[in-house]
Formats: sequence, C-alpha cells, structure tokens
Amino acid sequence: MYHKYDAIIVGAGGAGLMAALYASRGVKTAVLSKLYPTRSHTGTAQGGVGAALGNHEEDNPEWHTFDTIKGSDYLADQDAAKVMCYEAVDVVYELEHMGLPFNRTEEGRIAQRPFGGHTNNVTKKPVRRACYAADRTGHMILQTLYQQCIQHNVTFFDEFHVLDLIIEDGVTRGVVAVEIATGELHVFHAKAVLFATGGWGKVWRVTSNAHTLTGDGPAIALRRGIPLEDMEFFQFHPTGIYKMGILITEGVRGEGGVLVNSEGERFMDRYAPTIKDLASRDVVSRAIYLEVRDGRGIDGKDYVHLDVRPETVNRYFERDGIKNPDGTPRRITAADIEAKLPDIADFTRTYLGVDPTLQPMPVQPTAHYAMGGIPTDIWARVVADDKNTVLPGFYAAGEVACVSVHGANRLGTNSLLDIIVFGKRAGIDMVRYCQESDFLPLPKEPEAFTREQWEALLSRQNGRERAADIRREMQNAMMDYVGVFREEAGMKQAVEILEDLKERYRHIALDDAGKRYNTDVLEAWELGALLDTAEVTAVAALERSESRGGHYREDHPKRDDENWLKHSLVWAKDGTIELDYKPVTITDYQPKERVY
Ligand code: FUM
Repeated sequence: MYHKYDAIIVGAGGAGLMAALYASRGVKTAVLSKLYPTRSHTGTAQGGVGAALGNHEEDNPEWHTFDTIKGSDYLADQDAAKVMCYEAVDVVYELEHMGLPFNRTEEGRIAQRPFGGHTNNVTKKPVRRACYAADRTGHMILQTLYQQCIQHNVTFFDEFHVLDLIIEDGVTRGVVAVEIATGELHVFHAKAVLFATGGWGKVWRVTSNAHTLTGDGPAIALRRGIPLEDMEFFQFHPTGIYKMGILITEGVRGEGGVLVNSEGERFMDRYAPTIKDLASRDVVSRAIYLEVRDGRGIDGKDYVHLDVRPETVNRYFERDGIKNPDGTPRRITAADIEAKLPDIADFTRTYLGVDPTLQPMPVQPTAHYAMGGIPTDIWARVVADDKNTVLPGFYAAGEVACVSVHGANRLGTNSLLDIIVFGKRAGIDMVRYCQESDFLPLPKEPEAFTREQWEALLSRQNGRERAADIRREMQNAMMDYVGVFREEAGMKQAVEILEDLKERYRHIALDDAGKRYNTDVLEAWELGALLDTAEVTAVAALERSESRGGHYREDHPKRDDENWLKHSLVWAKDGTIELDYKPVTITDYQPKERVY
C-alpha cells in the first residue's frame, strides 16, 4: 500500500509528538508508531523535566547549561546544551499551558525538586530545578502531547513498525513499514522523515527500558550508511529495582532519600562530599559497584539500599543542616512520600512487598539511557559525516539522536527536556524544509529490499537457533563486559561473542509463519537491530582508551582530553565497522576536573 505525506514522524514518544504538533501546523504530517502512542517509553520517565524557573530559589539557565556540560564530562556540544537549557523555560510553560498537571508550590507555581548534578553554581549546593508531576512526569507529558495531537487532527498509524528508510541520491524520500495487524508492507512517500524511535536498553540484561527499546532507528541508519555518534556512552541509572531493573526515580534522592551499604553507612558521603547522593549518575552508579565489590553489598549480594524512610531522611537533613528555601529546617513525612512518589511506593509494594515509608528499597544500577545515537545539528537535522554535512530530509530527535547535549553522561531531567526542545525544533524545521522542497520520485519498488529480508525471516521455520538464547547471551556479554566498568580484554571478548551471535542469528528459527500480529517475526527483527547496535557500542567502547562519564575503563581510569576530547562516529559498511572522530563544540567552558 502506498501513502504520501510531506512529513513522516517515526515514534510517538515525547519527541515524536512534539514534532508532530509543530509539523502538522504547516504541512501534511503522519506519525507511525510500533506501539499504541500512549504506551511509548516517555511514559515511564518519572522524576521531572529540568528548567531553571527559579520557583523556589535563585536559579538561571546559564547554571543549568554549565551543570549539563560538567555532567557530560565536557563531551556535550556547548552550543546545543545552551539552546536546550535556555529554551527549557518557555517550553515547560508551553506544556503547562497545554494542560500538563504539574505539582504546585503554595503560591500556585510549578513545583520543583532537586535532582542529580543540578546545582546553584555559586554555593555548589543542589538546586530545585526538576519540574514534576508527582513521579509521573513523563506519563503526563505523553498524555498531554497526545491529547494535543488528537485535538489538532494529527494522523496516526498505530502499530506500524518501520523497517527501512528510503534514501535515493543522498536525499530522503520516505519509509517502508509493516502493519503489525495484517503483516502488509506499506510505503510512505515523504519529503522529510523524523526518527524519534527512542533508545536500546534491551541490549543489556538489567535495564529500566521496556521490551520495545530495541535500537530499530540506529540499526536502520547504520544499514543506510549513516554513522552513529558516541555509541560507547550508555548511562546506567543508579537505582533500578534489584534484579528487575525497573526505575526508582532519582526524585527519591531529590526528596532526601539516601543510599546505604551493608554497614548502614551513607556511602556517598565518601564519593561526593558536596552533593552526596545527588552526584551525577555515572559517579553514583560506580560508587554502588565499588561498594558491592568491596563486600559491602546488602547480605553479600550485588545491591544496596535506597532509604527514604522519614526517620532516616530527617536524621540526615538535621546532620547536614538542610533547610527549606525560607530558611526553616527541611523535613519529610510518610504522607509526603505517598503524595510526591506515589508510583514508586506502588512499584516497590507490588514488586518487592517493600513499603518505602517503613523499609529501605533494594536497588542496583540499571541500563537506562543512550547518550549517543544518530548525529544531528541543533535543528534535529541528521548530519552524516565528520564535517556535519546535513542529509537532506532526514531528522532525528530524542533519545535516538545525538545532538549532543548529554555528552558522556546525561543529567536526570534533561531527557524529558531534550525531547520537548528538540522535538519542537524538528517540527519547525521540517515545515521549513517541506515548504522549500518538492516530492522527489521514489525508486522503483522501494519496498523490494525490505520485502526480501522480511519474507526470508518469516520463512525460517527450520532454523536451529532460538532468538531468546541469542538475546540472553548478548545481554549477558554486554552487562558483564560493556557495563559500568570496562577493560580491554572483556570488551574484546564481547566483540567476539557478538560476531558469533550475529552468525548464529542467520540460522534463527521462527515458530510462527503467519501474517497477522506475528510477534515472533517482529521480535526476531528487533533482535537483529539489537545485535547491530550492541556491536557498534562494544567496538566504539573498545577503541576509546580513556574514562569519561558513563564510559569507565579500569585499564585507562583517567579522562584524557589531549587525545579523546572528541566525538566518535561509527559506520557499519559491508559488514565491517569503521570509526572516525569529530571535534566537540566548546564555546564558554574549558574542560576541568569534575568534583561533586
Ligand atoms: O530518575 C528519574 O526519574 C529519571 C529521570 C531521567 O532519566 O531523566
């Protein structure tokens, strides 16, 4: 089946919906999503969206910019970070005016809480910058934007899984997608295509990511000769529910929660004496691993406790002289926890039988967020080489993109901000581009290549390998060798394992040869994308012989600005992986040692 739209948006999370809202004001726009839109992963983001509103205490966008750059371990492009942090204020008010139900201060302003790495740049103390809707901020953003899209008659193709990007003579011409309900392939002819397909946390065994986060977007880009940027940087969030990986928001620590080892010690006192549990995520995740390695995991196991019980929190507030903005001593009650962290209280009661007002929660770092991705400029236009040459008509925004505002480590709350700022910019620029461009003809049978691959996979009933085995072995290799701590021998082993798994993937067996709702073939297709994404991640990590942000090399424990203050670009060309590098944009802040 054939469709024609000026702008096609792939993915219905926050970046896709924000782009759709803006694009649909100017040109004929459709959104394709492999899910029902409100099931998109934005809905799981909990603690807040960062914006220097200063609703409780002094703050400003320049401090936000500096914190973002420092948090990124100086790998963020500073022009992009500045755009994001300065536009944050307007875009958060825009969401408020769309009806997003933020929590409120007593005066009725948007309520804000402290979050990791966000500081008053003068006192160096945590600042309240995360604008929140309880611990459901992402969920509320998703619902609000979806309602706006429906109100503005955006066209949705729900449960359409995009399999290929059509590029001819270096210009984007559309996408090929499978309709999950029927198994039919559809061609969408377009002038501009935005990928807002999210991350790929399912590469790792313990992850906060949903089953759908399988690297579909980056894998398509790689197959189409587009490089990926900074793939070695993947963030482990310090507090996932033990073994399950489900996110426990940093908002818990923002409300005063503390990490505690088997000796009952609040160990972040030692690792980050100034901001302690609210240090940046790379620092806190490594601290938890080190505690466990040194035998201070709870019950000798690989987890620690996150303690938000009022008596614990209030003891530390008192010890550290923590005050409210009006100067009164800060305090928390069980009712505050229920009101400000209701989903967390519900998750831990449901999954663990733990009441967080009475018991500490068992947590371990969980693979959470891709800092790297499809390289773009500050208008979300994909740039396909080390000279930042724009690939006409192709856009990327949100987690799948690398602008790069997060560099080597993202600050909490900056992902929700990234999706709304750069989703909006993508939508605006797609309108400009579509209005200036004509539809270029599609190649002959644009879906032929995809059809061949899809049908070959669908007919594999006699294969000898199971997708589940390959997935598990990939996740174990990535967790053990390309996780929080890395070193050369382990990463080499991971690369070898992945090469072997890719060979085994060619012999995969499917049980279901049917067309309608064939999740067997979809999962197998997604596994192919995961393997491609995992492989370039491991290769890029092996190559970078320094430690920076989320990429910590035990064999190269120091940051090395002389040799490595640069973005990596990785291509997969004819089965061979190639790497190149491009400079980081530094405007105002020269790299310094990070101290928290
Ligand atoms: O901890 C959290 O609520 C996660 C937020 C984020 O990843 O930005």
